[in-house]
Amino acid sequence: MKYRSHYCGQVNKSDLNQSVKLCGWIMKSRDHGGVIFIDLFDHSGLVQVVANPGLKDFKVLESLSTHSVVCLEGTVIPRPDGTVNPNLSTGEIEVTIDQLVWYNKAAPLGFDVNDTKVSESVRAANRILDIRSERMQTSLRFRAKMMGAMRQCLDHMQFLEVETPILTRSTPEGARDYLVPSRTHPSKAFALPQSPQQFKQMLMMGGIDRYYQFARCFRDEDLRADRQPEFTQLDLEMSFMSAEEICEHVEKLVHHMLSETLDVKLPKFGTLSYDDALTYYGTDAPHLGNPLKLIPLDDVFKDCDFKVFQTPAISDGSRVAAIKLAGGCEQLSRKDLDGYASLVMKLGAKGLAYLKVNAIEDGKNGLSSPILKFLDDQTIDRLLSVLEVANGDIVFFGAGEDKLVNLTMHALSKQLAQDLGLIEEGLHFVWVKDFPMFEKVDGGLTAVHHPFTAPVDEDLNHLESAKAQAYDLVLNGHELGGGSIRISDPQLQQKIFNILGLDDDMVNQQFGYFMKALSQGTPIHGGFAFGIDRMAMVLQGIDSIREVIAFPKTQTASCALTQAPSQVSRMQWFDLGLQAMEVQDGGS
Ligand code: AMO
Ligand code: AMP
Repeated sequence: MKYRSHYCGQVNKSDLNQSVKLCGWIMKSRDHGGVIFIDLFDHSGLVQVVANPGLKDFKVLESLSTHSVVCLEGTVIPRPDGTVNPNLSTGEIEVTIDQLVWYNKAAPLGFDVNDTKVSESVRAANRILDIRSERMQTSLRFRAKMMGAMRQCLDHMQFLEVETPILTRSTPEGARDYLVPSRTHPSKAFALPQSPQQFKQMLMMGGIDRYYQFARCFRDEDLRADRQPEFTQLDLEMSFMSAEEICEHVEKLVHHMLSETLDVKLPKFGTLSYDDALTYYGTDAPHLGNPLKLIPLDDVFKDCDFKVFQTPAISDGSRVAAIKLAGGCEQLSRKDLDGYASLVMKLGAKGLAYLKVNAIEDGKNGLSSPILKFLDDQTIDRLLSVLEVANGDIVFFGAGEDKLVNLTMHALSKQLAQDLGLIEEGLHFVWVKDFPMFEKVDGGLTAVHHPFTAPVDEDLNHLESAKAQAYDLVLNGHELGGGSIRISDPQLQQKIFNILGLDDDMVNQQFGYFMKALSQGTPIHGGFAFGIDRMAMVLQGIDSIREVIAFPKTQTASCALTQAPSQVSRMQWFDLGLQAMEVQDGGS
């Protein structure tokens, strides 16, 4: 017995007068004086079916509400003149129902599935209905197509798909681990992988020449619009390749995927150094489609008397930078200016000085700015010539520690560009390279990439300030993926761990197995990992990562559908040798 001969969106004029078997959900049902018109849909589209009063199950069909499911047999007939719908693939026909074969009643939905104004929390709690929406169907199909295209290309390039464990040991990627306490080893726990980093390296040591995996990764970190606690990487590792060759393979993969999914052919991606990315964009994930770049001004202010700018201009680790908005005087009201000042001040800036260029031909008198009174004529002249301003322009200033100025001026440039519609359409890919190995955090050093990243050969004698053989691929301001050449020498690996604050005993305890593997014959190797969810999001021009994941976590790292994480029984804690801190009502 066959329930279906056609998908709903597939029936058309070529099936006229034929008998078809359709299955689908009722989108809408209209009673027209004894005849019921039903819009029946599935993932492929929508078809109009018609129930005439003579039908045996007419009363049943009449009682079925929106999103009830039906399987039916019917005959394809042309739509009467004047009722053809040119916007539908099935718009020239309709199907008269001959027999209702099966049905399943839907409870009242509570909201319109295709209404984009319904709040995210309502949709998240009813994720099944949300997945039925055209929006989610399109998004999930795109994601699958993207993954399929990449898999196809990797197979072609002779990468081997290998799976690595989910129950494993902690691997440092900079986030907090999700732990799974062990029942059989009291007081011990598995960590869910933040990435398969060490396993993929050990696969290279094991002689797997090229590896890939769509790997689930788990990171207990603060969530943002492009971060989930559980996400998917396309994880790659290759033996005996230089960083350039690895980037070439990664790029080839992206070009193939873009051509398969979006039918887009892009030129070779450009490169930006980490230092330039921070200097001109304030971030290591710059949006090259945003024309509002940061203009470095240390040289302009280094000799002036305005200490708020002069001190950062001459101090290490501090800077003064500006953003010039051409024609901004007219576009921004006083209230807008206050809004942008409060945006940067919320992020920690002390203020947001600005300069309006009203009539440049009048010199100082043609400018207005709250800091004008603090600046001597020479500084103003230098400032105007560096900024190359014209009448009507407005310039914003940030001064202070590098990190803060970069954070706040990047946020400002992003917000201004968004508000004023300045961002250039399109896919702006860029490689970011020449990362430092380490950065200072709370007095110590942490790895900018991860501890397995190799320094460049020239910097082996001054590791603490070394550059890394690491690279990130950035698309429209999102880090799509990153990778590096790995350390293949156990002694160097030991030194890097030491710099990161692990003494030899700690290295042995936490990474003994890995150090042993490194000393058993290690090839030159390196790799890359794409954030698949992010990629699906940015390529579709979607703002939230939750829109490309079938069952995502909320902003507070819980599942709105299943209410996970959930309470577990005292017995379960007991079995694990643990005790719940607080058992709320209902817990046993
Ligand atoms: P990294 O930590 O940069 O590198 O991760 C690689 C890519 O994964 C994506 N990503 C995330 N996506 C969604 N939610 C998150 N919480 C999240 N965290 C990361 C990003 C990121 O660029 N093992 C290394 C790769 C390597 O060296 O080969 C790694 O995991 O798009
Ligand atoms: P003040 O002398 O503190 O009133 O500052 C004069 C102007 O400079 C005000 O518009 C402040 O918002 C701005 N300002 C103060 N500190 C900074 C800073 N670190 N970066 C940018 N603008 C600042």
